[in-house]
Amino acid sequence: MKRIELFEVGPRDGFQNVREYIPLETKIQIIDGLLTAGVKHLQITSFVSPKAVPQMKDAMELTSICIDKHPEADFFALVPNLRGAEAARNSGIKWVSYVVSLSESHNQANIRRSHEESFTELKRIQESYPQMDICLDLATTFGCPFEGKKTEEDVLPFLKPYVDGGIRTVNLCDTIGIANPAQVRKTINAVKNEYPSLDLQIHIHDTRNMGMVNTLSAIECGVDKVQSTLGGLGGCPFAPGASGNLATEDLAFMLTEMGYELDIDINKMVNLARFQSDLIPAGQFSGHLYKIQEER
Ligand code: COA
Ligand code: ZN
Repeated sequence: MKRIELFEVGPRDGFQNVREYIPLETKIQIIDGLLTAGVKHLQITSFVSPKAVPQMKDAMELTSICIDKHPEADFFALVPNLRGAEAARNSGIKWVSYVVSLSESHNQANIRRSHEESFTELKRIQESYPQMDICLDLATTFGCPFEGKKTEEDVLPFLKPYVDGGIRTVNLCDTIGIANPAQVRKTINAVKNEYPSLDLQIHIHDTRNMGMVNTLSAIECGVDKVQSTLGGLGGCPFAPGASGNLATEDLAFMLTEMGYELDIDINKMVNLARFQSDLIPAGQFSGHLYKIQEER
């Protein structure tokens, strides 16, 4: 049986798209539920400017509560700059996702930095915190809302300075859900071929109902670390048209049925997704299972 590691990113990628502030207790209740359902890797927040993403204003408090409650869990957080990395480290986070967009215009819209400035900022983080594990989140890997389609010919040269600069983990993000399975296969095979030592993750949005096929396509190319969000809550506040992520419980159901080993309690996940949709009525959810099942 092949093992797949699920990286739940709902408390960051999902929550950040809900305009109304979600009370801290609600966020913690959902994080607790995810851990109870068997999730081990959890992106619980982002250390970003509260002006850019007000929902994440409680990052420090939320992180310290979660780490105190669940010292065994693998928590990580998204950071856009050195200041975010410093806050993450001070809160007890051991590894971070450093986000850069393959398209310069989306990088400007999201992080307000040129490619060169983003690269320089990463160097500053690496120099300041050499012990910190950093995953490069490559947003708009497959396409950008402003620049259109991206291919492996864009991805490979872009990654080179990062790999040369010590990045060992890259998360290929389909920020606007524009990829197709053939493109996913081609991109992953090209990246694996060019940088065989890289540890790859995949992060696919379900905007065009292709989240599942694209994620499966990545898994069949050998990617075994997969990101998704409970209930398919998600989007990107800086990418027009981006909507929900692939739903973790739907993905877990499919993979379990196919014989993959996950260690996830699907019933608990489905019930939690339903519970979450009640708690966050303003959320946009792309999940299916939680809508069609009562008690399983
Ligand atoms: N955490 C908290 N506050 C931060 C911060 C961080 N990591 N980085 C910057 N700030 C604050 C600054 O103190 C400043 O506050 P002030 O206006 O009260 O003085 C303000 O944010 C602007 O700082 P500046 O350095 O000029 O940044 P900017 O305006 O160029 O914004 C980012 C750049 C990266 C901080 C901002 O665009 C951001 O946080 N983006 C995150 C986007 C995101 O989360 N996208 C979704 C995930 S992919
Ligand atoms: Zn995303």
